[in-house]
Amino acid sequence: MLSIKNLHASIGDKEILKGINLEVKAGEIHAIMGPNGAGKSTLSAVIAGNDTYEVTKGEILLENEDISELAPEERAHKGVFLSFQYPVEIPGVSVTNFMRTAINETRKANGQPEMPANEMLKVIREKSELLEIDRKFLSRSLNEGFSGGEKKRNEIFQMAMLEPKLAILDETDSGLDIDALRIVANGVNKLKSDKNAIIVITHYQRLLDYIVPDFVHVLYNGKIVKSGGKELAYELEEKGYDWIKQEQEA
Ligand SMILES: Nc1ncnc2c1ncn2[C@@H]1O[C@H](COP(=O)(O)OP(=O)(O)OP(=O)(O)O)[C@@H](O)[C@H]1O
Ligand SMILES: [Mg+2]
Repeated sequence: MLSIKNLHASIGDKEILKGINLEVKAGEIHAIMGPNGAGKSTLSAVIAGNDTYEVTKGEILLENEDISELAPEERAHKGVFLSFQYPVEIPGVSVTNFMRTAINETRKANGQPEMPANEMLKVIREKSELLEIDRKFLSRSLNEGFSGGEKKRNEIFQMAMLEPKLAILDETDSGLDIDALRIVANGVNKLKSDKNAIIVITHYQRLLDYIVPDFVHVLYNGKIVKSGGKELAYELEEKGYDWIKQEQEA
């Protein structure tokens, strides 16, 4: 699904990603952990095609196609979805209208006709029920005045609607109360299939009790310095990042 090879990325003359290698297969969930400023959000932004960052070396393959030169919307049309650590507000555009536009743009880019209105309503109903989203919520302006948890839940709703091949969730857990965390995690688990892959960025092991990863990676100073199974998250929680730091400096 996703294959990242020796990826380097900079902003100005500051190198942030310093040789990332990552293989994510269809059907897998990968968790990326690591201290503040390690480059986790940068990695997700670079995969999604944010041009603030310059890729100076390496490649990003999505289903064997190099997507590193494509515009963000082209990547989205190919099935890359990124949920942001800090979602933007779009006043005057309702949640429903935003979704309708996003879905139809993707269909258009892939040579499909627009989704008929009744089908759209049906899908919106199904997915909002799956994520226990109140109907009233759907007519509100996108992210405007949404609480932190509502923004996060809405992003998972977008993911549910768009059915991406590769979803990257950047700190989807931050700001969610216990119930919302469970709902969001259940939603993600239900959306998981053998045809898609999910990358979850988180600081807390807790989320990984709900969304069980196949692999856990530690990003430290622009590199993946450790990979393992679910147990690596527990080890990190217990030992903290000093452990990684000491290993790196040794
Ligand atoms: N637009 C930018 N301009 C300047 N520096 C940036 C920019 N984006 C990222 N950086 C720097 O790159 C480094 C990595 O940032 P990034 O946001 O990727 O970290 P992170 O691992 O997501 O951290 P956190 O856990 O705090 O979310 C930081 O030192 C950050 O200051
Ligand atoms: Mg971040």
